[in-house]
Formats: sequence, C-alpha cells, structure tokens
Amino acid sequence: MTRPAFDQVEFLDHITTITAQWERALAASGADAAVVPAGIAQMYFQDDQSPAFHPNPHFARFYPDDHCEQSVLLVRPGNRPKLYFHRPASYWYQPPTLPDWAETAFDVETHDDDETLMTALVKGVSAYHRIALVGPAESCELNLPLKAVNPKALVNRLQYARGTKTDFEIARLREATEVGVRGHIAARDAFRDGGSEFDIHMAYLGASKQQESKLPYPNIIALNEHAGVLHYQHYDRTRPEPAHSFLIDAGGRSGGYHSDITRTYSATPGDEFDDLVAALDAKQRDTVAKIKPGLSFVDLQARMHRDVADLLVRFDILRCSAESAYDRSVTDLFFPHGLGHLLGLQTHDVGGHFATEDGELAEPPQRFPSLRFTRAVQPGYVFTVEPGIYFIPSLLKELAGTDAGRDVNWAKVEALVPCGGIRIEDNVLVTDDGVENLTRPVFDALD
Ligand code: GLY
Ligand code: MN
Ligand code: MN
Repeated sequence: MTRPAFDQVEFLDHITTITAQWERALAASGADAAVVPAGIAQMYFQDDQSPAFHPNPHFARFYPDDHCEQSVLLVRPGNRPKLYFHRPASYWYQPPTLPDWAETAFDVETHDDDETLMTALVKGVSAYHRIALVGPAESCELNLPLKAVNPKALVNRLQYARGTKTDFEIARLREATEVGVRGHIAARDAFRDGGSEFDIHMAYLGASKQQESKLPYPNIIALNEHAGVLHYQHYDRTRPEPAHSFLIDAGGRSGGYHSDITRTYSATPGDEFDDLVAALDAKQRDTVAKIKPGLSFVDLQARMHRDVADLLVRFDILRCSAESAYDRSVTDLFFPHGLGHLLGLQTHDVGGHFATEDGELAEPPQRFPSLRFTRAVQPGYVFTVEPGIYFIPSLLKELAGTDAGRDVNWAKVEALVPCGGIRIEDNVLVTDDGVENLTRPVFDALD
C-alpha cells in the first residue's frame, strides 16, 4: 500500500477551514463538542466476514486515509481536534500505522485496544456538557454523556459545507480523476482488442491500480444492450458476437475522494451509433461550457432535455418537432436520470438538495424527480455532468399506443436497442467566473 504525499500546507489549511466550519455548526446546534467515530465494518449475518470498511465521511474529511477503523476524533472548539487512534495489536491483520501528517493536525493518543480507547475518550469528554455524536452510533456504544446523536442542526450544516471544496480536496479530486482516466484508457483498449466485460473490468483495475473493494462504486462495464441498464452490475466472461457498443462508468479514489467518469464507444467507427455518441458528446461539452456561479442546475437539466429532443429528431428517432418531444415529456423515457450530482467523499455526495445550510430543501421539480442536485451553483462546487440517451424497451413501451408513440420511428429504435445506450460523464469544478472540466484534459494528457 502506498499513501499519496500531501502538500502539508494545503492539508493544514483544509483542517483549519473545516474546524472553523465545525465550530460554527456546533454553536448553531447548541453542542460544545462532538465525538466523531470512524466506524467499524459490520459483519455479514452470523459470519466473521464483512464488506470492505468505509469510514464515516465526517471522520474522513478530517482524516484522508481508510486505515482508521475504530479510531475516534473529538472536535473541541478552541483546540486542535483530538484523535484517539486505534492500532490493535493483531497478528491476524496488519495494524494501521499513523500517517506523518496526523500529528501535524491533531493531538493524538494511540490505543491498542478498544476498551482503553473508550476509557480515554470518556475522560477526554469530561470537560464538556453538551456532546453530540456524529457518525454511526452503534460503533460507539459507550458511557458518553451524549446530548444528541447526529442532530440535524449540526449535520445539515456540515453536509451543506461539504459542497464547497477546499484546495486540498480539489487536489485529491484531481488525483482521483487521474486514477480513473488511466483505467478508462486501458478499458477502451481492451474493448477494441476484443475483450469481454470481465476482461475489460480487469484491465481497468490493473491500469488504475485499484482493488475492487476500494473502488468509489462498482464499475459499470456494459457491452451491447447492457449499456441500457443504468447501474449494470455483472461482468460477463464471454464477449457477445457481434459486439455493437461499450459503455463504461468507472471512477477512482484518492484520499477518500471520488471521480465518476463515463464514456461510450461504438464497435464500428463511423456507424450511426458512433455518430450519435459524437453528437451527445458535443452537447455535453456545450452544456459544461455554460456553467458558472449563479446558474441553476435545474435549468441546465431542462436545457439538456431540449438538446436530447433535438438529437432524437435529428437522428430520425422521433418524427415530430423537438419542442413537442420536450413538451410531451417524451425525452424522459430516453434520458431517465438526472444530469448530475455533487461529488466528493461520496460518489453521490450529500447536500445536493439543500437550499440553505439549515437544511431547507430545494426539491427537484416534479418532472425530474431523480435529479440529485438542485442547489444554486457556487464557486468551489464539484459535480458531474452526465447526459444520456438510452434505448430501454421496458421504458419505451410506455409510448406504444399513445399520440407520442405514433411519432416514434420504431424501426430505428429497434435497430438501436442492441446498442443499449449512451452516457458521457465528466466532473467539473466551478471557478470564480466559469468552470473547469477536471476530466477531459486528463484524457488528452494521458491518452
Ligand atoms: N456512477 C454512478 C453515477 O454516475 O451517478
Ligand atoms: Mn457515473
Ligand atoms: Mn455520476
């Protein structure tokens, strides 16, 4: 295992920024300290095995390393956070080591068993009266004088604040992008070399140097009609013949931060599916170029549906005006997911529906219930832009027998169903006056 080397100044600035956010949030919630457990992997039912450990993201934002199971942070206004580092004296598993950067940011106590750690923590909180726990409660079953467990007034503020990335977080997101793009390039080559879904998946893991259990989300490696299953989860060992299309939605992680990248390829350069991929790619680039502070992502979602309507008409899939395809919600059946979501320590990062830091919600419009991001766009936000066009028989059959159904060129749809669908997904950073595409320049540099 290698650990990325952090810029120490950037890391300490990050800790200063988020500690200040915690102090404001604690004050607003009426708590005077917070216990933040990293958590512990939950075993499968009646088993001694568990899925891979994922730390509590509130802990991970302070401590950008996965090897922290059962460690606990105590956030104390006016002081450096205190880390109770759990390093079990185990010979079954490799115990974690304390990274160099930890003692630069935190007061650290190391404990080799959970009981002495908990005793020390009880002592550490004894100076406080209104203590909140932020994280999985079951991982911290202790005699702490807790006043609240995950109080909304505190957690909403923390989740809202996570929308704006610090320089340290942006650096990790750039690394996560590079990890993902290395995998994407190898995966595309494996597809062109005749690989099966499984072969492509293995090529992705090898080139991005990621173990499967540490991926930001399960790789979506979809050939042919599998590309029309939005979160397709299998890896067929045999390549379909003929292969028509390949959709890959796969990301990388660095310091706990995720990238989330999708590309779609035709098996036959220059065929109609290939042209449709290129046309959607151009619309996606135009959409990204429009992003700037103050923009409404809900408006961008609606505009993308108009673009999808244009393409469906231009490619003779719909025989009506683009406007009427949009107005009658026909595009919703070809593009049935949201245009994007916030990205960070979680792939679908939290807080996308918050209108205010108090947790007042900006609900998605009725027409687009699966839109995960309704906040007004601000500098420092990182999110995905991922339009799609799919040919999903179970959805399109809703059109059969309707007025709109008469405007569908069913022969063309039938010809495209074996290709599944198209999604193009980049990750973008909002700047003071516009946007930076984090993904495309990395493809250009590494390809
Ligand atoms: N990879 C899941 C998504 O794009 O939202
Ligand atoms: Mn994705
Ligand atoms: Mn996504």
